[in-house]
Amino acid sequence: MKFTGSHILSITQFKREQIDQLFAVADRMEPYAHRRKVTRVLDGAILGSMFFEPSTRTRVSFGCAFNLLGGEVRETTGFESSAIAKGESLYDTARVLSGYSDVIVMRHPTSGSVAEFASASRVPVINGGDGSNEHPSQALLDLYTIRKELKHKGRAGIDGLRIAMIGDLKYGRTVHSLCKLLSLFQNVHLTLISPDELRMPADIVESLRAGGNTVVESDAMESSISHVDIAYSTRIQEERFSSKEEASLYRGRYRLNQAIYTRFCEPNTVIMHPLPRDSRVEANELDNDLNENPNLAIFRQADNGVLVRMALFALILDVADEVDRHARDVNWYTERRF
Ligand code: CP
Repeated sequence: MKFTGSHILSITQFKREQIDQLFAVADRMEPYAHRRKVTRVLDGAILGSMFFEPSTRTRVSFGCAFNLLGGEVRETTGFESSAIAKGESLYDTARVLSGYSDVIVMRHPTSGSVAEFASASRVPVINGGDGSNEHPSQALLDLYTIRKELKHKGRAGIDGLRIAMIGDLKYGRTVHSLCKLLSLFQNVHLTLISPDELRMPADIVESLRAGGNTVVESDAMESSISHVDIAYSTRIQEERFSSKEEASLYRGRYRLNQAIYTRFCEPNTVIMHPLPRDSRVEANELDNDLNENPNLAIFRQADNGVLVRMALFALILDVADEVDRHARDVNWYTERRF
């Protein structure tokens, strides 16, 4: 895949060269994401942001990423504020909105819908999450975070990574995309921890194994997180179940807190979660008592989303080498704690 003009629909489009290219550009976006500089490289460009499911991080960070590059954002949130509610097809919506935008990011509750939309779009479309299928930009920012966190601990590279994924692996699109991305690497050891009914889809497990990686499936968390570099927790995807009652059978099954972390994890294990974490008492998969744990990377992970999404826009719109030429220092107070 070449980035320029491409849709980003699935993580399977990527090879390692593109990941390296993307991450190198993301590294260069740090002065902008951290508000030391502004660039107007996308001055006049318009992002169409269409989110037909709730979102905080993906919607806002894509929007901020585009703004930080100097572009403007036009948003549609929810079916009720779109003519789709009047029966308009994805085809017609794509034909119309791609006439108004230079690039579109879309989230939709149905698997495959973003690809269907993209096939009618006249501009590149980025999948912001389609049902339980995929969330490619989340996987990219997750891998970027893993790489950065490990580097901080003195370790280079993803090959040989030991990662546990915990929770709803059946409906969790972030872990689907992350597994597909990790299958590009070697000697990765994955421990997939879920209730039997919520196991990772078999085709994803098979393709990991076919690539020479090790996959162990378990329904027990404590005994499975002792020797991992990354403990990646996920939420029970309540919105994908046939009823709230069915989802509640699994909510709260796996709860990682400081006491469990101290007892079972290696002292350097990095804790990740795509967020939102479900902090309601009946779920609480990642307890607030981990908030001061320096290995809790969840907010650094969310911050990295801006860098990676800026890099995606810069590469898709072919301005990655122009960003600094349109830059200046900011003139407002920007001190922030990281
Ligand atoms: N991680 C993620 O997709 O978060 P949002 O649902 O808030 O976008």
